Amino acid sequence: MAAKWLDSAVFYEIYPQSFQDTNADGIGDFQGIMKRLDYIKELGCNAIWINPCFASPFGDAGYDVSDYYTVAPRYGTNEDLKELFAQAHQREMHVLLDLVPGHTSVEHPWFKESMKPEKNVYTDRYIWTDSVWEAPEGAQSLRGISDRDGSCMVNFFSHQPALNYGFYERNRPWQQAPEDEGPQASLEEMKNVMRFWFSMGCDGFRVDMAGAMVKNDPESKGTIALWQNVRAFLDREFPDKVLVSEWGEPDKSLQGGFHMDFLLHFGPSHYNDLFRCEEPFFSSRGKGDVKAFVEKYLDNYRKSERKGLICIPSGNHDMDRLARSLQGDELKIAFAFLLSMPGAPFIYYGDEIGMRYVEGIHSVEGGYNRTGSRSPMQWDHTANAGFSSASPEKLYVKMDPMEDRPCAEDQLAEPASLYHEVQKLIRLRGAHTALGNKADIEFVYVEENKYPLAYVRSSEDETVLVIVNPSKEACRISTANTKVDPAKAKAFYQLGDSVSYDEKTGEWVVPGGSVHFIA
Ligand code: GLC
Ligand code: CA
Repeated sequence: MAAKWLDSAVFYEIYPQSFQDTNADGIGDFQGIMKRLDYIKELGCNAIWINPCFASPFGDAGYDVSDYYTVAPRYGTNEDLKELFAQAHQREMHVLLDLVPGHTSVEHPWFKESMKPEKNVYTDRYIWTDSVWEAPEGAQSLRGISDRDGSCMVNFFSHQPALNYGFYERNRPWQQAPEDEGPQASLEEMKNVMRFWFSMGCDGFRVDMAGAMVKNDPESKGTIALWQNVRAFLDREFPDKVLVSEWGEPDKSLQGGFHMDFLLHFGPSHYNDLFRCEEPFFSSRGKGDVKAFVEKYLDNYRKSERKGLICIPSGNHDMDRLARSLQGDELKIAFAFLLSMPGAPFIYYGDEIGMRYVEGIHSVEGGYNRTGSRSPMQWDHTANAGFSSASPEKLYVKMDPMEDRPCAEDQLAEPASLYHEVQKLIRLRGAHTALGNKADIEFVYVEENKYPLAYVRSSEDETVLVIVNPSKEACRISTANTKVDPAKAKAFYQLGDSVSYDEKTGEWVVPGGSVHFIA
């Protein structure tokens, strides 16, 4: 019953602060995103996810909401956002917003009411102990901040009090059950928030910290049940809208009814082994390992029973830029993998041109080390790389100061650029049913500490063998289980030198630094 458009969705993540400024205040805005929709479409992406854009004091870049029903004035108005949805739809694109259901800003009016000692509608909207002398076990809390006698649990930074969705296991009188009135009211309010934005044209949400809603929930049973309830609501009222979770455990999130989940830099997925560790698998040094990742991936694939999509992002606003650990052809090879795996691809803005992590810059709005991955998009060679006409000191995050920083204009003009490789790969994905979001995968060569990685993607009418060899050394694998006839099959996509077939040994000979899609 999932939205059909997801089957061919390729997402582009936009950090709105840093994408395109149109009124010279140094901060990106909705008008800027609208101006660049054609760029995104031309790259091949047909869906976008915009990081939080609701009213906020911006202690955590907008992940601290103070009003779920009004956009932050720095980005524009609700009407502008509505216009953005409409402009995207005209181009057959879809738009996800970022929903932060687990906590609010301390400045949210609900929290201000909740701090009052007199009982009111918001008393149980957040998680409070019943005495200021008792702090919730195993969690940070806000204490001594008002006349209400209690400590309030926080979810992330200490200015982000946790909304109350109840406790799965309860051993203190102030811990409420998920079915209780307070937790139910929190959940119903989030459904109202979704209804509100859906009615404006929003196509779905990326859900922040989706796995941490119900507390004291060691196996996530309470949180899974909560999201099943939300999915039932969507199926009933908004069957075309979708939810993607920041959870990182697809075996749980997809059972909970999410249409998609991300593999992330935290959690059990081994995602970091690929791109972000001392010896990433995608480094040409060839010292990485992909086996642990694949084992976990298959485990998730099986346990989630194909209920939804497992998405492997190129990066996001919380992790280092891909280009911090990979360069040149390594990036192209990484994208050939990302764009030939099942699930919906997610490209973090600027990764398609190899934007770098900006070293040594000051933290902005709770970014800390994450700030280096949030620098302004580099469009061209005009002032501030075409991001903004504000004076450089007014920019939200400093530009990459390197003289040879990449920009979209140059890469569009250069046929051999990373941009064009990504564009080509997205087109191939759209043209081959076996490479689609929902088509099958079977791994045919994965060995501990060895190269290459090989897998077979298949749909009803097509079988494609993918061989990925990031290592600079050539390698060989037996053709026996690779599902395509080596005598007849041809590579319809190739990066690096050609693959060949050694008849005598019955092996594929795979050059160093190469990728092949064979059918
Ligand atoms: C998620 C967001 C991150 C934010 C945190 C708290 O991990 O991606 O940017 O700081 O949640 O909301
Ligand atoms: Ca602006």
